Parts: sequence; structure tokens; C-alpha cells
Amino acid sequence: MAADTEDQKGDVVETAITPPSDRRFAVSLFARLRTAQGQANPFPIYAELRARGAVVAAPWGGHLVTGFDLCDRVLRSRDWLEPDARWRERQGDGTRWTAPSSREMSRTLPALNPPDHTLVRRSAGMFDRASLEELRGTLSRVTSRLLDTLAERLHDGEADFNALVGEELPVAAIGHWLGLPAADFPRLRDLTHDQVFTQELLPSASQLALSDAATAELRGYFTDLVRHRRAHPGDDPVSRWITVWDGLESDRDKADEAVYFLTLFVLLAALETTSTLLSTMTLLLLEHPRQWEWLSVHPDLVPAAVEETLRYDPPTHVISRVASRDCVLGGAEVRKDEMVHLMVGAANRDPARHEDPELFNLHRRPAHLAFSGGIHYCLGAPLARLEAQTLLHQLVRRFPRLTLVRRPTWAPRVAFRRLLNLDVTLS
Ligand code: HEM
Repeated sequence: MAADTEDQKGDVVETAITPPSDRRFAVSLFARLRTAQGQANPFPIYAELRARGAVVAAPWGGHLVTGFDLCDRVLRSRDWLEPDARWRERQGDGTRWTAPSSREMSRTLPALNPPDHTLVRRSAGMFDRASLEELRGTLSRVTSRLLDTLAERLHDGEADFNALVGEELPVAAIGHWLGLPAADFPRLRDLTHDQVFTQELLPSASQLALSDAATAELRGYFTDLVRHRRAHPGDDPVSRWITVWDGLESDRDKADEAVYFLTLFVLLAALETTSTLLSTMTLLLLEHPRQWEWLSVHPDLVPAAVEETLRYDPPTHVISRVASRDCVLGGAEVRKDEMVHLMVGAANRDPARHEDPELFNLHRRPAHLAFSGGIHYCLGAPLARLEAQTLLHQLVRRFPRLTLVRRPTWAPRVAFRRLLNLDVTLS
């Protein structure tokens, strides 16, 4: 067992070491996790992983962490860093980390460490109460229109909720906020699905190639957008970021580049994650009909239903960090620059943290790591929550008899979950 002591900075360091874990076990576990079947229900696989110990060696190097408190501690600690541009360069040419899409991502907000991160995060501003209030009306109207379409399709039998609502609401929300033309939404959504591969745990060469191509196209799209907004400023976040960055950076091209990276990442961050939340929430409630009924009678529990979904099956199951120095984590030795994968999907069901963690229960007030923690805590969390709550309020009111036709199919990923369909009907 590891004994915790306090170092001079007040951070917790562990001083004892447990035996090394079995890498072969982790290889077979990941092979299962990376299939559509594994993604349909990864939780028994996580339980096997947890049974092996709080920190398990990853087959490709690095470590897998499943405990809630340990994940939370890493996210909040100054000793753990994002794999930034310098770290990626150190991994060497020919690795996934030097692929063009990875290089591009290394310049976006979640790949920066202080002090660069501090500056860019402050410049982003994002969602205060007033801007959320402004969005509330739009979200309500868009949701209502999407549910009209769902109602029409359900009239004829079954409908794919994921395609009609789950994938549509987030792109309409972020597109409206950024002031993008609706005609561009399908293209941006498709590019995001491809781009995300470079952020996956173990992308294949062909997935990286898709991501590289999508990244190049997105760069063209958003650099044009920034150029256009500089010429024709309006009352929108991109125009505001240009003003902010003109005050921070005397070189116009560098200011525009900073605004481009902010805009690019906000779009990427907002789409798949929120779509997965909306569809997973609907799936879980349809799979638990008594909770669905309860919710239609007690709509005040809508925010709790959103939070329990984020605990029970969050859109992002893995968040990674690298060690800034040699240390011992949960009994495992970790060398400087080694990566730890925080298995937040598993951590959210850590029995040491939650009673009956496998129970989907609207009556708990769950702590979860769905939006990360520490200095990288998700800046879009208020918008994601507002979308999910707006949708759920309208859904339970308008479709109390909604039922699942069949279990959905999941994309064979590991870190970023994605439903490929969600077929529903009226009972
Ligand atoms: C349910 C939906 C969402 C989930 C689950 C989610 C999850 C996350 C997670 C896990 C991180 C941190 C990654 C890390 O620690 O390395 C993050 C960061 C971020 N997210 Fe979200 N996100 C969601 C929606 C959004 C939306 C709608 C936006 C924008 C409108 C957004 C913008 C951001 C930004 C800008 C960051 C970077 C923060 C930083 O590094 O300082 N996210 N998100």
C-alpha cells in the first residue's frame, strides 16, 4: 500500500511501490474495449481493470488510472501536465504525436500548459449568465423545431433520435453562437467526426490520415472566417476574440492565428461531446422506464437526470496527462514525461466514491469527472448542461410514451464515445 506524505509545496506524494501490473492483460482488455461490442458496454471491462489495482501499466507505455480520487487528484495537481507541443516533439518523428493533426491540436487551449494556457483561457471569456440567457430562447426554439420533425417521423413508425435530434441540436447551438451559416453545419459536423481521431487513445494510421485531412479543411474554413470577421466585425465571439487578441499581440497575423485556434477548438469541443450526452441521456432514461415516468411527473429532477447521465456514462471516457517529474502514483512508479490515462468513465463508477455505482439513479447528487477538473475544467459545461436540460424538459412533456426500438450501435472508439443511431418509437 502507498503511504501519502506532504511535500514542501503541500502536494500529496506517495512513498511506497506496489508490484508492476500485467501488460498482457491490458492488451487483451484494450482489444475488447476498441470494438463496437466493447463500447456498447465497457463497464464490465473497467471493473476487471479496477480489480487489477488503482494504477495499471498500459501495453504501449504509460499507465491507466481508474480510481475517482486518484483521477481527481491528478487533474487538480500542478505536477501533471498536458502533452503539449514540446512533449509531442520529444516523442520523435513518425509517431502519432507529430502527425499534422496532432501538431495542430497541440496549439489549442486544452494542449497548453501554464503560463500559455492561463493567457489563452482568460482570453476565451465564454459563457457568463447573460450570454446563456440570450442562448436559452434560441435553444428552446431549435429544440422545439427538432422535436416537431421527430414527431412527424414517429407518426409513420420509428425514428432515429440520434440523427434527428442528438446530432442536430449541438451544431445548431454552437453554430448560432459563433454566427456560422446553417448551410455549413453538416460539413462541420462530418469534419469533426473525422478530426476527433487524432484525440483518440490509439488512432490507427488510416484514422490519423482522416483526421489530418479534416484538420486541414477546418483550418481553411476557420482562417477564412477570422479574416472575414476582421474585415466585417459584428456582435459575436469571434469578433470579440479579435479585439481581445489585438490588445494582447501586436502582430496582427499572430492575433488572427490565436483567434483561429480558439474558434477551431470551441467547435470541435462542442459537437460530438454534447451529441453523445443528449443521445446517451435519452437512451438511459428509455432503458429505465420507471425513472422516465418519474421525470415526466417531476420535471424539477431534469438537472439531476443530466448530472447522473454525466456520471453514469460520460461522453469522454479518457483524459490524459504526463508527469512533470519522476513520482509514485497509486503505488506505481511513473517517470517524468510518462503518460497517465485517467479512465474517467470507470472512475465515475468507482465503488469507493459512489454507493451502488452501477445503479442509474436520479436521486443522487453525483460528483463526476465528465467535464475534467482543475485548470482545464470544461469551458463549455454551462452550454452543454443548458442544451441537455432544455431538450429533456421538452422531451418528457411531449413524448411521455417514447420507447426504445432496439439497442443502439456504438462507434469502435475508446476515449470519445459516439452513438451511431438511437431508434425510437411511441408505445
Ligand atoms: C457534454 C459535453 C461536453 C463534455 C463532456 C466536455 C468535456 C470536456 C473535457 C473532459 C475537457 C477537458 C480536457 C482535459 O482536461 O484535458 C473539456 C475542455 C474544454 N471544453 Fe468541453 N465538453 C463538453 C462540451 C463543451 C462545449 C459545448 C464547449 C464549447 C462551447 C466546450 C469547450 C471546452 C473548452 C474550450 C475546453 C478547454 C478548457 C481548457 O483546456 O482550459 N466543451 N471539455
